[in-house]
Amino acid sequence: MGKTTLITGGAGYIGSHTTLALINAGQQVLVLDNLCNSCRESLTRLERLTLTRVDFIEGDIRNTKLLDDIFSRYDIDAVMHFSGLKSVEESVRKPLDYYANNVVGTLNLCHAMARYEVFKLVFSSSATVYGAPRQIPIIEDLGTGKPISPYGRTKLMTEELLADLCLSDPRWSIALLRYFNPIGAHESGQIGENPNGRPNNLLPCLTQVAMGRVPELTVFGSDYPTVDGTCVRDYVHVVDLADGHLKALQALQSRNGIHAWNLGTGNGYSVLQIIRAFEDITGISIPFKFAPRRAGDIAECWSNPTKAGRDLGWYAQRDLVRMIQDTWRWQLRNPHGYHAQSDLLAPVALKQRV
Ligand code: NAD
Ligand code: WQD
Repeated sequence: MGKTTLITGGAGYIGSHTTLALINAGQQVLVLDNLCNSCRESLTRLERLTLTRVDFIEGDIRNTKLLDDIFSRYDIDAVMHFSGLKSVEESVRKPLDYYANNVVGTLNLCHAMARYEVFKLVFSSSATVYGAPRQIPIIEDLGTGKPISPYGRTKLMTEELLADLCLSDPRWSIALLRYFNPIGAHESGQIGENPNGRPNNLLPCLTQVAMGRVPELTVFGSDYPTVDGTCVRDYVHVVDLADGHLKALQALQSRNGIHAWNLGTGNGYSVLQIIRAFEDITGISIPFKFAPRRAGDIAECWSNPTKAGRDLGWYAQRDLVRMIQDTWRWQLRNPHGYHAQSDLLAPVALKQRV
């Protein structure tokens, strides 16, 4: 068996799209996931799409014995590290879970990598490490800020931990990929975002309304100093993100040390612009009401992705229309996500625009 890339969290939303990209690029992969926010079906879909068996171990990155076992059995030469908890709101209620999973989990993983002399790591970071940005569009070189939530602090702490690791031993090559707002799904409609429980992010909330499960969308804040009073974000297609991971891994072959890259489109859209675009593209009406600002939201945030373009040759290829079309195709083909049916959810009744 050739050199293998270990993909932690490879059954999840961004991890599954990246696993697909790696397999399509002819690479050997091993997915490690405890399925706390995903299910085996996403990997079965990948197997169908690629006509390849996906090596999978169900387990937790906090299990040091398991990590030892994996690194001793497989010829791993790089790790893509997606696993972690990602809800801002939940992190406020359960900070210990977030620090234990995201920070201690990464610490365990790095220990195991060092023990087995695997020094290439691509880490899922987030624009949240910039906190309230001092300047927009955001460039990497201006440095990080003060993240607003425990979730954000786990990402910043992990970045700092990884930077210290690189200082301690020049053999490490680490990419910090700072995603902006990932949306969309693979064009096949076979894999996509499948959040457990009630979603918090805009697109999953919006599709719940479009599917008729929730009567209206709540728009948080109408008085921000933005184009129309609602918050502006840099939405980026998950397949473009996957491609960014592939390019970052290639870049690590020839550079040591730690490197932060923004993965965003460089364009900002307001919440109202997203609603209108969704309505235009799908023909479905999205009733909404305004509510007070959501705690912790910043008015505007979008990337300057020039550094990723220069260093990696990565540019987001897919525009907002494509992001919404692909999100909607995934949703329509999988009204209950990866589950064939669910009696927890109300039946689907699409609201055609009148
Ligand atoms: P996701 O929840 O779909 O995927 C994470 C995967 O990790 C899940 O399959 C989950 O089961 C697994 N996992 C969690 N804890 C684990 C553990 N201890 N051991 C093994 N597996 C574990 O999330 P995603 O949207 O694909 O995000 C992937 C990464 O990107 C996360 O680290 C997230 O913080 C980061 N990120 C996500 C976004 C976003 O908006 N989706 C934005 C920026 C950064
Ligand atoms: C976008 C905009 C909301 C839901 C979060 C994390 C960030 C990163 C990506 C992981 C905001 C508004 C939302 C709704 C709304 N994740 N909104 N009604 O907050 O930019 O980023 O996900 O790293 O760290 O913070 O994304 O999709 O939650 O919100 O009006 O029902 O949509 O207020 O302005 P956010 P989001």
